[in-house]
Amino acid sequence: MIAGGEPIYPVEEWTVTETIFDKSTNYRNETTFSLSNGYIGTRGTFEEAYNFDIDTGLEGNFVNGFYESEKIRYGEANFGSPLYSQSLLNLPNLKETKLFVDGEEFSMEKGTVAEYARVLDMKEGILRRGLVWTSPGGKSVQICTERLVSFEMEHIIATRYEVEPLNFSGEIRFVSKLQGNVENHTRKTNPIVDYGPFGRKLEAEKLGQEETLLYYEGTTQTSKLTVGCGSSHKVMVDGIPIAAYMDAPAVRETKRKCTIQGDVSELEAFISFEIAAQKRVPVSLEKMICYATSLEIKKEELECFVKEELKRAETIGYERLRRYQKNYLEKFWETADIRIKGEESDALIQGLHFNLFHIFQSAVRGGKHGMGAKGLSGEGYEGHYFWDTEMYVLPVFIYTAPETARRLMDFRYETLDQARERARILGHDKGALFPWRTINGEEASTYYPLGTAQYHINADIAYALSLYLQVTGDKEYLKNKGIELLIETARIWADVGSFAECKDGRYCICCVTGPDEYNVLVDNNFYTNLMAREHLKDAAGAVRWMMKEEPAAYRALKERLDFKDEELIRWDEITGKMYFPYDGERKIYPMDDGFMMRKPWDEEKIPEEKRAWLYENYHPLFIMRHRMSKQADAILGMYLHSNLFTEEEIRRNYDFYQEVTLHHSSLSTCIFGIVACDIGRVEEAYKYFMESARMDLDDHHNNFYAGIHAANMAGTWQMTVNGFGGMRCQGGRLTFKPGLPEKWESYAFKVQYQECVLEVSVEKESVRFSLLGGHSICFYVNGEKIELNEGKREWSGNR
Ligand code: BGC
Repeated sequence: MIAGGEPIYPVEEWTVTETIFDKSTNYRNETTFSLSNGYIGTRGTFEEAYNFDIDTGLEGNFVNGFYESEKIRYGEANFGSPLYSQSLLNLPNLKETKLFVDGEEFSMEKGTVAEYARVLDMKEGILRRGLVWTSPGGKSVQICTERLVSFEMEHIIATRYEVEPLNFSGEIRFVSKLQGNVENHTRKTNPIVDYGPFGRKLEAEKLGQEETLLYYEGTTQTSKLTVGCGSSHKVMVDGIPIAAYMDAPAVRETKRKCTIQGDVSELEAFISFEIAAQKRVPVSLEKMICYATSLEIKKEELECFVKEELKRAETIGYERLRRYQKNYLEKFWETADIRIKGEESDALIQGLHFNLFHIFQSAVRGGKHGMGAKGLSGEGYEGHYFWDTEMYVLPVFIYTAPETARRLMDFRYETLDQARERARILGHDKGALFPWRTINGEEASTYYPLGTAQYHINADIAYALSLYLQVTGDKEYLKNKGIELLIETARIWADVGSFAECKDGRYCICCVTGPDEYNVLVDNNFYTNLMAREHLKDAAGAVRWMMKEEPAAYRALKERLDFKDEELIRWDEITGKMYFPYDGERKIYPMDDGFMMRKPWDEEKIPEEKRAWLYENYHPLFIMRHRMSKQADAILGMYLHSNLFTEEEIRRNYDFYQEVTLHHSSLSTCIFGIVACDIGRVEEAYKYFMESARMDLDDHHNNFYAGIHAANMAGTWQMTVNGFGGMRCQGGRLTFKPGLPEKWESYAFKVQYQECVLEVSVEKESVRFSLLGGHSICFYVNGEKIELNEGKREWSGNR
């Protein structure tokens, strides 16, 4: 039995299939079937563009980085609160294609629907729908729709709509629309946000139809960003372009017609194709859709760019884009795929494929932008980027798609100046403080106890960067961008705390919020202090490397950043004297200085329906005064830096935190699972794994409609590889400690490490490591040093 009950969709390896159209689950399914390439995101809505109410569906089309701002209304604004919001904006919809079958409009809510299947193909990166519709008037058609958000052409969504009359010859009409009258569903998707966006935020500036092309251009009211979007159309009969088909002598004789019409109103434009269709001869519409914005292309060039991209896409054609899509994904799966054999493995594999597919598609072609906690699958969290990217998603890409990891780190590098400005606002004379939530690089969090106070974001970014550098050995990145990121973020740690007399001169960091959002503005959050210390070590190490290996570049950097030798000395001192809260009796690290003083949590006193929704039902002070935790916090630090703790220490802390953690965040269970593996509790880990692996596919949190939980999705990969596989890359060493849950016979995964591809296969009795690509690799298995190279590509041992 799968955690959380029966699976929602049939268990299949590479696909997710909806076998019945049910309005009551539509909103959730729109997220399941959402597609993206990291630049464009489009929800799994239907071509017919149903007019669903706000609780039933959301037509959503997004471009990464494209947001609208609203002036934020604060009851009492404190200095430094962001004045303007950033919300990922819902853009004009071009997917809409209405179908008329001999004058009757196709709708799954009328007539009869048979053989219905909507399939997300995670190997091909495509969404397909097939059904047989019989109109109320008795006309039957076979309908097949397909769409992909192209990995090859980042501005393009390619679609195909095929109709085959089954029991008649008659008229088939496609009406393809450009719908500019769109707005966000803020009340539903971000109910506690009261600043918007409400209502339509794009002012249309151009809207037109030219032959078979539709084009729209509009600018947002406040952020003043412009989007240009359009669609091009190609109709085919029996696979032959319509003009050629109509010209064929046999068809000409029949005097059948094909008419094209179009029109434009204030916010909409359409183009319709009326085709005299024959029984059993399929008619199809290939529609290319393009989005581009003034974030990458000059406003005055947008129209030209969109039209040329559409032409290019049309020339390449749907079929080839589909092949490219598959090839692109094939490369990703080649390394990222995980194989598991054993009880329940089919369901787990489906969950893993679903998770990896969604995070990959949410990140791969994101241009200069970051990755939202919900990818581009919905409006949840206003589309903001959080630490989720660095701590959960990046480690997956670092080992499976390093160029995608690098691109995401570039986003932080590109927004370093805003982070510098933010640091000044927070009173730091030097350095950069990254925003807790953002789209454009500026802080967008309106409630600082849960937002800006999460200073750990700086160390998280540095952690991901250091991991990337260790795993890839990419010294160029370190020299050109990484070093600056490391120094600027590290400087904040040197300024935010002090050597406190009352703590024997140890370095204390007060008034920050750790990852756990139920304990805020605390002193000496264990995770923060630990991550800050390791960050300072990494930054100092990188500076010393630069001094030695790249003296000229170092001198230039030093001057540019006004970096003083005293800073390095101070970093070393802080590193040596960092304070950590410690409970000598229990021999554990409390989450912060005040944690053990807080009132024990009594779950029984909380009505069941309110238990998972504390902030919605209780005053923050009530929550914060209790000794309990929303999500993995100290334990996360112990996972990331497990080499600094003994197994016994980790075990004691794990036992303690297991008691007090409520897992109200989706970011929690996967981390507990990994730590459970670290201390040899593989069966316990397995339970956490089951919680995480199908969390979104089976909608365990009941809020999938608002978008994916990218962090947990990535967390399941980490659970398999870092948890069961026991893999770490710490202190420049790649190590493994493979475990195997009882229910599994075996599992296998691959990782890229310093230009090598290593396959790890774990079975009941044995483990096998194979060097699949690259020249030589050195790693440790349960402490034993292994070297593989061209002469010896495989090593096996006992588990
Ligand atoms: C979690 C944060 C996370 C955010 C976005 C919150 O509920 O507490 O850690 O960054 O969701 O996923």
